[in-house]
Formats: sequence, C-alpha cells, structure tokens
Amino acid sequence: MGELEHWRKGRPTILRCLISFSALVLAGCSGQQSALSPAGEESEAVYRLFVVMVIGGISIWLGVTSLLLHAGRHRREAWPAEKAGALIAWGGVAFPIVVLLLLLGYAVWLMPAIRPWNPLAAKEGAIEVTGEQFWWRIRYPAVGDHPAFETANEIRLPVGRPATFSLKATDVVHSFWIPVLGGKMDMIPGRTNYLTLTPTRTGSYRAPCAEFCGASHAYMAFSVIVMEEDDYNAWRRRLINGQTSAANEGGQLLQRHGCVGCHSLRGLQIAGQTAPDLTLIGARLSIGAGALANTPENIARFIRSPSSVKPGAKMPAFNMLPEDDIEEIARYLGGLK
Ligand code: CUA
Repeated sequence: MGELEHWRKGRPTILRCLISFSALVLAGCSGQQSALSPAGEESEAVYRLFVVMVIGGISIWLGVTSLLLHAGRHRREAWPAEKAGALIAWGGVAFPIVVLLLLLGYAVWLMPAIRPWNPLAAKEGAIEVTGEQFWWRIRYPAVGDHPAFETANEIRLPVGRPATFSLKATDVVHSFWIPVLGGKMDMIPGRTNYLTLTPTRTGSYRAPCAEFCGASHAYMAFSVIVMEEDDYNAWRRRLINGQTSAANEGGQLLQRHGCVGCHSLRGLQIAGQTAPDLTLIGARLSIGAGALANTPENIARFIRSPSSVKPGAKMPAFNMLPEDDIEEIARYLGGLK
C-alpha cells in the first residue's frame, strides 16, 4: 500500500478524532463557567460581540483563501499596471479599512452595555467583595430593615435586577470574573473598582479568580447563585439571623478550640474577622473557596491540614485536636443550613 493510499484509509480515523476532539472542546462551552452560555445582560453583549467577530474573521479568511487558490490555479500573466493598482487600492486598503471601522464601531457602540455607568446611588448600595489570599470576603449592605451582613465565597443575587459590586483587595491583585454574567474586573489593593451585572437566568454558576495571585490561585473560586426574588429575600433573612448557638456541643467546641478567634458565626458572641465568615456554611456549594465539595468529611480534612488542600492557605493545621472533636465540628458546620 502506497503512502497516499495508507493516508486515505486512515482519514476516517483522523476525521473521527477531530470530531471527538471538537465535541470535547465545545462541551466546555456550556455550563456553569462559560462566557459562551450567557446568563446576564452584560455577558450577552460580550457574546454578541464574540459571534460578530468570529463571523467577520471567518468571512475574511474564506475570502483571502479563495483568492489564494484562484491565484494558484491560473497561469501567471502580467496584469496591466492600472488594474493591479486598482486591486491593491480596493482590496488592500479600502476593504480592510471599512471592515475594521465597522468592527470597531460595533465594539464601541456595545461598550455602555458591557460596562454600565454606575451612578452614586448604585455605588452606595454595592455588594462589597474583597479578594484575600485565597478566598472572597463578601459584605452585603443594609437594605430597608435588613442590616448589613458578611459572608464568604458565595454570592447570591435576585434575577432580573442590576447588582453593583465594589471590588477591593487586601494583599495582592486578584480579578473578579463571573463568566456567565459579564466581563472581568481587577481587584487592586488600595483602590475600589465598580462593576454592575444584571443576571437574567436563575441557576448556580462558578466564578474563578482571573489574575495569578499566589500558590492557590487555581483554588480561589466562588459560587454565584441567581434566585427568584422571594427565595433571595428568604436567604438574606436566614443568613442575617444565623443559626449557630453556643448551647450545643458544636458551638462549644468552636469556642473552646479558638476557631472563633479568626472565623465569625452569627449567633456566637466572639466573632473573628481575619478568616472567612462561616454562618450557614453547610448551605454553600463548596468549601475552601471552591477547593472541595461541601461534605463533613471534606470539612474535617480541611481542618486537619488546610495547606494540603490549598497550598499557601493562612489557616494553620489543627490535626493536634482530638479526632472526635474534629469530626464533631465538621458534622456541626456541615449541618448549618
Ligand atoms: Cu486570587 Cu488569583
């Protein structure tokens, strides 16, 4: 069998491989963390821009490739200078200028939709998100008779309402990015940036840190849960009231072993401010800012040795505590919903 024959016989396999590979790649385009599966007004604008750019790019590529094939198939003959000059002027100068101006105009026209203007009122009612190494501190402002409250690594939003975020960083630069809701925005120490996003579809989404920030950058994510207005208000009330009590064994262990020196849980008297708030931690989708699934076993694993799950985590290992106490604390925290 000649080389060519061999290659021809192998073609279906190559084709199958290409199709499987494309299917795998495209499978990543749907789901919780994809800008190609928009669930917000701003991300829909970004998605439209992407589609127009891709169609524009493919059309130009097809045009250039056809011209190239056409040129290769014909015998070379000298063109009259006038005809060649006209081709260069129209095809090489006018055409790219028109296409690039159209694409630029479209992108500039979309800018207000991608980065809505933030009036002062929106900035005052903003949800404050602070990047820490390697987790997210989230402060909700007071609204009506609801007081302000803090949580961590999870943002819940009501569907159909613009939410403004004030973005800060404590230590190094992080980047706030919820791909399904919109573009990213840097979080810079000493500066506050504002971003407004309007979710249009309920669901649970994932948001990664989008700027390298240290050893556990890849383990720094938060969940975004877009809810119906009533469910959202009920969640706010539950979180404000907390559920933790010093009267039961879990609450006592958290105080006796000093957990509350760094963490706060509404309901307990001592409230540390340096580590993530743990109020209703059992209801979160993950623990350790997206590092592990939220199960009592994983909470216990994190308590025993945080840095084996998240390199560079500031929480020290607590594997010197009695194993029974670790398991009781993990069970208790996992049950706070
Ligand atoms: Cu925080 Cu990367």
